[in-house]
Amino acid sequence: MSRSLNSSTVVNIEDLRRLAQARLPRAVFDYLDGGAEAEQTLAENCGAFRDVMFRPRGAVAVCDCDLRTRVLEHELSFPAMLAPVGYSRMMHPTGEVAAARAAGEAGTGYILSTISGHRVENVKAASNGPVWYQLYLLGGRGASEAILDRARRAGCSALVITVDTPVAGMRERDPRNGMKELLGTSVLAKVPYLFNILAHPGWLVSFLRDGGVPKLENIVIPGKGPMELVDVTAALAQATVTWEDLRWIRQQWSGPIVVKGILIGDDGRRAVDEGAAAVVVSNHGGRQLDSVSPTLRALPEVVAAINGKIPVLMDGGVRRGADIVKAICLGATAVLVGRAYAYGLAAAGQAGVARALQILRTDFERTLRLLGCCSTTALDRSYVETPRDWDME
Ligand code: GLV
Repeated sequence: MSRSLNSSTVVNIEDLRRLAQARLPRAVFDYLDGGAEAEQTLAENCGAFRDVMFRPRGAVAVCDCDLRTRVLEHELSFPAMLAPVGYSRMMHPTGEVAAARAAGEAGTGYILSTISGHRVENVKAASNGPVWYQLYLLGGRGASEAILDRARRAGCSALVITVDTPVAGMRERDPRNGMKELLGTSVLAKVPYLFNILAHPGWLVSFLRDGGVPKLENIVIPGKGPMELVDVTAALAQATVTWEDLRWIRQQWSGPIVVKGILIGDDGRRAVDEGAAAVVVSNHGGRQLDSVSPTLRALPEVVAAINGKIPVLMDGGVRRGADIVKAICLGATAVLVGRAYAYGLAAAGQAGVARALQILRTDFERTLRLLGCCSTTALDRSYVETPRDWDME
């Protein structure tokens, strides 16, 4: 691991965030860091973890902690996978390939976003762990059929369908930073934003060496080739997936389907009825509808509704190993981390992702020991105290 990422310089995920902020132009950093509207849900996703307190068992010597968990037939070395993160190749040229490789080396899984700049085949080949493909219906059904076939052939072992994007959330930082103009073709429209880009020469050189704005390599429009990268508002405008679409997708994909973006018990039950193999309790990292519950708070309702029929994953606000422990105590089988690893990717490519995973894993293990708990599977509600006003099922 490079010296700039060693354990005295990068102690926690916030340190990686600071390095990412220094390296990236504001438009790219804010795309990653920001959320929708007043960013209330973005903040509360993290805040909810602070509201849950631990109840440790004293005088318990825990020698060999078993951190592993199983998700859809995969054994994970600890209960955190890498969430789909759009535009990763804009954050670092090695993007999705580096993140998947780091996940595999850490013994865990990676989920490739549809909004990705590296080909699914290369991403899967880079990892010795599970890779799942996250599908938006971008580019129409023809393009979706083609990518589902490619993902299956490449060896992706599950399909993730995101159901919280009927339109893009209003991420107020993006228009202020000229994200749309920067990705567009008019040179004149970019001028007001160029000063900030030029002030980040390290990022700029690597971006230009990589060929500039990447294409969406996994959305190949029949007869036209890979789709041009568009800003997130335009992308998600075409991304809606309904329960009816899910039935069509089911016919194209025979493997497990994971439904991501569930926040209420009824939708959890519906996902089970529609044949989901797992759900992800998610508010899209506070990037879609603002003022929805933080995911940790929504988790118990969905866990109760699903009642053990399929695994419940969660994402949103995970920045520490202790957060992962709290989510498991409240019924998640594993968490997905998004920003926590993407800060590392933006800061230093694969080494940054590896450092993020190392931090989370080390924290996770230490927390288990401090709790007096010997394994991930032994964690339960008795190890945490939730605020009185949380409506616990
Ligand atoms: C992409 O899915 C995003 O939320 O930015």
